[in-house]
Amino acid sequence: MKKKAIIVTIAVAFSLSVSAGDNVKATIHADQAGAKINREIYGQFSEHLGSCIYGGLWVGEESQIPNIQGYRKDVFEALKALRIPVLRWPGGCFADDYHWMDGIGPKSQRPSLRNNNWGGTIEDNSFGTHEFLNLCEMLNCEPYISGNVGSGTVKEMAQWVEYMTSDGDTPMARLRRQNGREKAWKVKYFGIGNEAWGCGGNMTPEYYSDEYRKFNTYLRDQGNNKLYRIASGASDYDYKWTEVLMDRIGNRMQGISLHYYTCSGWDGSKGSATKFDNDQYYWALGKCLEIEEVIKKHKAIMDKADPEGKIGLLVDEWGTWWDEEPGTIAGHLYQQNALRDAFVAALSLNVFHKYTDRVKMANIAQVVNVLQSMILTDQEGTGHMVLTPTYHVFEMYTPFMEATYLPVDLKSEIVQVSKAYFKEKEDAKDAGYRPCPLLSASAAKTTDGSIVLAVTNVSLDKDQTIDFAIEGYTAKTVSGRILTSKEVDDFNDFNHPDVVAPKDYKDAKLKKGNVSVKVPAKSIVVLTIK
Ligand code: AHR
Repeated sequence: MKKKAIIVTIAVAFSLSVSAGDNVKATIHADQAGAKINREIYGQFSEHLGSCIYGGLWVGEESQIPNIQGYRKDVFEALKALRIPVLRWPGGCFADDYHWMDGIGPKSQRPSLRNNNWGGTIEDNSFGTHEFLNLCEMLNCEPYISGNVGSGTVKEMAQWVEYMTSDGDTPMARLRRQNGREKAWKVKYFGIGNEAWGCGGNMTPEYYSDEYRKFNTYLRDQGNNKLYRIASGASDYDYKWTEVLMDRIGNRMQGISLHYYTCSGWDGSKGSATKFDNDQYYWALGKCLEIEEVIKKHKAIMDKADPEGKIGLLVDEWGTWWDEEPGTIAGHLYQQNALRDAFVAALSLNVFHKYTDRVKMANIAQVVNVLQSMILTDQEGTGHMVLTPTYHVFEMYTPFMEATYLPVDLKSEIVQVSKAYFKEKEDAKDAGYRPCPLLSASAAKTTDGSIVLAVTNVSLDKDQTIDFAIEGYTAKTVSGRILTSKEVDDFNDFNHPDVVAPKDYKDAKLKKGNVSVKVPAKSIVVLTIK
């Protein structure tokens, strides 16, 4: 990795317990169990965008690429192994341009569409409602449908819900049966629009709230299928949006979304996924960690309006957003994924764990071939697939799903990251610094009674040993895996698929019922403590 003038400064190596050369002291409070970590925090997002659907999840039954009823076999199996809890579809911005009736019935009779948001690509609608909902059944995950408010009608949305979920003798259920599906699907999560402040209609929060109320009126729960209704929430720092929706929509929604990308801004270059210097590296981690402040502020507004915590905050788009890989199709958002992205994943998941009482779901953008994906497939259609470092974090973190959150006290050295580095639009006025601790940890008690502990050391050069005291628990065994690589810009490609891959980890030691962990620079360690 190239070095350049470091604008990042190391702040106080603070806390009484830290001094150069000493082990860092930390405490896991197994005696102060918090809320259950919602498995939906490990949710995924699949949009009709670039090759996420076509070429990623779906190749069609006639493809040379091995498939199961049209679903790409290698991708399907990799996702199955991840035990993904929920999959969002069909967008994103695409959702407010999508007319679901074009994607049902015999494939040869489905009209094609122009994907207006993403490169003007022509799609044949061969992946529609049946293909999506059947995939969710095969993956054993909850579907999360985003409905079209921006360019759709109330009738169209109401009929979609009926088509998917009615088991009665209703017109839409009859149409579904004609199209080969007898039983209704179970659909819980339903988004009423997406980014209504932008690509979903450029609305004001007041206007959108009225639209939500109108659309929502006609989305009828069919039989036992009860919709969890999600309003199109704020982007990043737009607290007013949350305030207005909490006030005007209130308990007509069960969830409100939030979008937060680790991105340098919406105009101009966002920087390369794999070519970055030390400053850009720390900048990205600082920006990623700022999601905690953002969640806290949205949560405070929600706590005020909904003190019982009935309405969930759903971070249904998050992750890194870099420049597209050179030579790929403009507008398809195909980017590589380095060890730096793995850190963004781990640090963000740690934050979601901490706020799991309000954060009911999170959906990383996106599952295959788009933005911070789990999986990349070869864009030339040669049939190659590779798991990204981000995939490995999700896989290593699976024990956190449904485990009970345990607070961890860990004081770390902090890198101060200049906000002005990328001339972020939002912060240009008050270019200051945001903190990036070098060490982070998250712990939880799993359903079998063991403790899962994830520790991340994002330092470029400093190994650290952390002594974890465990209050209210006596550790008898410890085992784990580590994700690391020589450089933070290392990544996996089709010729070198295992550059960044988990390995067994042996550097955790038991000390009188507690655990001491040596965490090398640039690494994520996930331990099972019994
Ligand atoms: O994930 C890519 C795009 O980012 C989504 O379509 C949109 O909702 C957001 O702006």
